Amino acid sequence: MQENNKDILLEVKDLKKYFPLKSRLFFNNKSYVKSVDGVSFKIHKTKIMGLVGESGCGKSTVAKTILNLIEPTGGSVKFNDKTIFNVEKNSYIPNKRMNEIRKDMQLIFQDPYSSLNPRKTIEAIVSEGMVKYKMGSKAEIKGRCEMLLNLCGMDKTCLNRYPHEFSGGQRQRIGIARAISLSPQFIVCDEPTAALDVSIQSQILNLMLDLKEDLSLTYLFISHNLSVVRYFCDEICVMYLGVIVEKGPSAEIYDHPLHPYTKALISSMPISHPLQENKRILLTGSIPSAGKIPSGCKFNTRCKYATDRCREEIPELIEVSTNHLVACHNYNSI
Ligand SMILES: Nc1ncnc2c1ncn2[C@@H]1O[C@H](COP(=O)(O)OP(=O)(O)OP(=O)(O)O)[C@@H](O)[C@H]1O
Ligand SMILES: [Mg+2]
Repeated sequence: MQENNKDILLEVKDLKKYFPLKSRLFFNNKSYVKSVDGVSFKIHKTKIMGLVGESGCGKSTVAKTILNLIEPTGGSVKFNDKTIFNVEKNSYIPNKRMNEIRKDMQLIFQDPYSSLNPRKTIEAIVSEGMVKYKMGSKAEIKGRCEMLLNLCGMDKTCLNRYPHEFSGGQRQRIGIARAISLSPQFIVCDEPTAALDVSIQSQILNLMLDLKEDLSLTYLFISHNLSVVRYFCDEICVMYLGVIVEKGPSAEIYDHPLHPYTKALISSMPISHPLQENKRILLTGSIPSAGKIPSGCKFNTRCKYATDRCREEIPELIEVSTNHLVACHNYNSI
């Protein structure tokens, strides 16, 4: 099927971000933490892409690099078919153009406690972007603040209050009101519910789904918890040590996981029925540090199916069925 470029909002190609390691012993020894090492995906308009993986696998670094908040080491990002950067072609969007595009690309943070300035009122927090981009008179902006908070399930009495007066769930609603204040097209949600109680988590996820429908939003949804993204995302990328090891439509990844790492993540999800048997696949060893990446397949040190080939040859991400990609030498024999 021919893919229409107009349907793609974000296109990430071979994205890399290496952080230099400072060595006191060898001044000229250049070594790096390869936090993101060749990540590619596309997000279609009004769809939700999930990015999952253990802590430290590079999810937030992908998000920050896409949003142009940190400098990329390699690869390219296109938003609405406009190049934000293409490192290999030495092409970077000018700051003035980026400022305009920034309105369309917003971020919701993991920690609703530290992401809101404790010294500012809720009105000042939600209106900050609108004041910066001169989106109307003082009264108009205040009216829009009330409308946005209302949309997020908060009433106007909170405008003159401060973040410490609210619960975690309420603060995340305020953070969401701020994120939609400039009518963005795209929101990166970096573990938006990880710091909340399970019951509050589903309220916030439902709010985000309603807003997505009402405002035609597109999300990149980051989580280390596969059960949260299961029904929320259209597609999922599973990341391990800076690379994508499996990618595909959400239902396909859950029902037919192919990579041993995805299988282990899914088997560690809590089961919803007491009579259902869950054969847990325990991952042995801890995630290697991004500064000491194993040769060959990065997962080989924790994989019980690893062979010599896995220790030597890096598996490519290949399409094994429609839109389902996996990077494993042995996916069809395990
Ligand atoms: N500014 C930095 N300087 C050096 N290394 C960094 C920097 N930021 C991130 N890293 C390293 O990059 C790797 C990926 O970090 P990142 O925060 O992207 O992981 P993550 O998947 O978002 O983890 P978490 O689930 O805990 O949020 C880690 O090894 C981290 O130590
Ligand atoms: Mg993170």
